[in-house]
Amino acid sequence: MLIKKQPDLTYADVTPKTLYMGRRNFLLGLVATGAAVEAWKKLPRLVSAAGTGSVPVKLNGVVKWPGSTSDTQTPIEKVTTFNNFYEFGTDKGDPSQNAKNFVTSPWTVSVEGEVAKPRKFTMDEIMKIAPLEERIYRHRCVEAWSIVVPWIGYSLSTILKLVEPTPKAKYVAFESYYDPKQMPWASSAGIELPYVEGLRLDEAMNPLALLCVGMYGETLPNQDGAPVRMVIPWKYGFKSIKSIVKIRFVKSQPPTTWNMYAGGTEYGFYSNVNPSVDHPRWSQASERRLGPGLGLFTRKIPTLMFNGYGDQVASLYAGMDLRKNF
Ligand code: MTE
Repeated sequence: MLIKKQPDLTYADVTPKTLYMGRRNFLLGLVATGAAVEAWKKLPRLVSAAGTGSVPVKLNGVVKWPGSTSDTQTPIEKVTTFNNFYEFGTDKGDPSQNAKNFVTSPWTVSVEGEVAKPRKFTMDEIMKIAPLEERIYRHRCVEAWSIVVPWIGYSLSTILKLVEPTPKAKYVAFESYYDPKQMPWASSAGIELPYVEGLRLDEAMNPLALLCVGMYGETLPNQDGAPVRMVIPWKYGFKSIKSIVKIRFVKSQPPTTWNMYAGGTEYGFYSNVNPSVDHPRWSQASERRLGPGLGLFTRKIPTLMFNGYGDQVASLYAGMDLRKNF
């Protein structure tokens, strides 16, 4: 793993994994032949020819966010091998295998639509817009499993304010990167792609909505949504869209991938964690927590309204029927 001090580190410095592995094996061979010095001189050129997947790098200067949960963290080994990222396959172990060579640099996120100052942000810019915070959040999947993860990022509102939304902006629509060449598994995913998501403007502006660039002290692994994703802890996990390329302010409620599935009967637009509204095919009253230990799951625990974040977000839904607006 490449570790650099933050001021020198640009996002484009992330060494591609195949190159990194290739370089290691290459050097091991060269040490034996005595040609290592000559080869070393050529390495900067090889590194700048980046074009394949990257490995996480350490993030320095991350500040601890005071609102983190004290729940036991899920070990990184489980969070990076038990994933939902349908573009890379539908089995939980598929993304960690199939996203290894996902090209995440260079990367830009276009923030556009009903705004005064539309803008394309490079990953370098995104990394520097605000101090990076470590926020330990509970993440509850609609499939009734949950994890506790030290995510790294800052409030989405920080970047949204920079483009100056107009009064016509009522919702925020998100879009994931999609490339059938890099994601051949996507054709059998059973969902429409690119993956799209959406929030009401006031939800998007809530400080808990995290624009996430890392976890466990490092940049995001590919399978967890590199290089930038959302984490919305009071909503079911599918709202936390991965590998974002576009954020668009819009006038009306945007289509979302899982809401479009099954004609909207299974997954609503809001998808707030709610133990009293069951999925048509299973109960949402409890969840299985992925935690430390030999087995995948530790224990079954009751699911909390808004995943335990009601103090910060319940007011967003005052007066709404959350059975109808599920
Ligand atoms: N984003 C994209 N682009 N594609 C996906 O398949 N899956 C969602 C969400 N974001 C998904 C996505 C679901 S169902 C969940 S539970 C979380 O990502 C899983 O995040 P994790 O794999 O980092 O735990």
